[in-house]
Amino acid sequence: NELKVGIDKLSFFVPHYYVDMSDLARARHVDKAKFHIGIGQDEMAVSPVTQDIVTFAASAANQILDEQDKALVDLVIVATESSIDESKASAVIVHGLLGIQPFARSIEMKEACYAATAGIASAVDYVRLHPERKALVIASDLAKYGLNSGGEPTQGAGAVAMLISSNPKILFVNDDALTLTQDVYDFWRPTGQTYPSVDGQFSNAVYIESFSRVWDEYAKRTASQFSDFAALAFHTPYTKMGKKALLPKLENETESVKTRLLTQFERAITYNRRIGNLYTGSLYLSLISLLENSETLKAGDKIGLFSYGSGAVAEFYSVELVSGFDQHLKKNEHELLLHQREKLSIRAYEKMFEEKIDLNHNETFSDETPYAISEIKANHRLYRQK
Ligand code: CAA
Repeated sequence: NELKVGIDKLSFFVPHYYVDMSDLARARHVDKAKFHIGIGQDEMAVSPVTQDIVTFAASAANQILDEQDKALVDLVIVATESSIDESKASAVIVHGLLGIQPFARSIEMKEACYAATAGIASAVDYVRLHPERKALVIASDLAKYGLNSGGEPTQGAGAVAMLISSNPKILFVNDDALTLTQDVYDFWRPTGQTYPSVDGQFSNAVYIESFSRVWDEYAKRTASQFSDFAALAFHTPYTKMGKKALLPKLENETESVKTRLLTQFERAITYNRRIGNLYTGSLYLSLISLLENSETLKAGDKIGLFSYGSGAVAEFYSVELVSGFDQHLKKNEHELLLHQREKLSIRAYEKMFEEKIDLNHNETFSDETPYAISEIKANHRLYRQK
């Protein structure tokens, strides 16, 4: 009777603005079906200059933590590939903004979009050794490729926060991760470079091949088959990506397995279609989307998660739903968050996109959202908590 550890609570946050992909297609002289069908994105989250990975992370975590959690969290991990400092971890600022007990470990983790998966694994190990304590893992990113760039329709912004505990209320994390590391340059961002360098078609190919290799090895080592899974969720740089990797692997499956996994796949991309790429958070946004939008999932169901970070590290592991998991989701809050967003014209998006923080210039800002940058002072960002 091994101790069960996993996700006790989870939520996401996205900034207040978005662009309609039909508007972007028109402005870029592209057929809108390419974005809606070819890429599979309907809306794209856009962040104002007063928000960053710290405010996204604090906003996402604040929705799930109560005072008891804050007294029990020993470990705060922020996974990101859009870091705001080469030295100081964003997790330290997030720890302070959330009011987590002081005797905690706060760190930032990096390996492109994969890092939150490593964060969860570390958090689960910690809680296995200290079952009375908890760990907070947040995936927070601002995905910007540049105006008129090839990656522009696959941008996004926001965070997913997950509280890891023993006897969790939502799901158990199984100890079956299969990980693959390959030194490739499909997507990277050298220190100091504003936007990533990306070899788009190569990145698609590495993702697809990584899923194939990781799944085959996982299946061999754990004697698993697709029919064991109620659903799969994928890292979702754009919603078509996971499907491109999954479809060829389902060729020899029965119609019922194919139908189940492809139907669940649609549930798992419902939110992602309206948000875009959250980088580290994309897989976990997809997991939330699946849990909150599927009508057929039940306690005991096994879900397979495919995590992919360019560069590249890929991993497949499984989780298992806990009885009553559906009572602890935040579907209404999430739908409201998306519904209340403001649509930007392309001109307004382009203006917002170009605004930058200048740390050498003291400045104050007004942004009324729960967490925001209030001031630039003495070369650092000051945050306001409403
Ligand atoms: N109607 C319907 N579909 C259309 C269409 C139309 N009028 N026009 C084109 N399409 C389809 C194409 O057939 C293609 O579909 P398939 O992939 O199924 O063949 C799809 O739309 C995309 O078309 P292109 O490949 O021509 O698009 P592109 O050259 O503009 O590049 C991209 C797409 C490579 C994803 C680019 O947006 C990009 O570089 N994005 C950033 C990198 C990325 O997201 N990579 C994903 C893997 S890496 C990763 O996962 C890590 C991460 O988060 C970055």
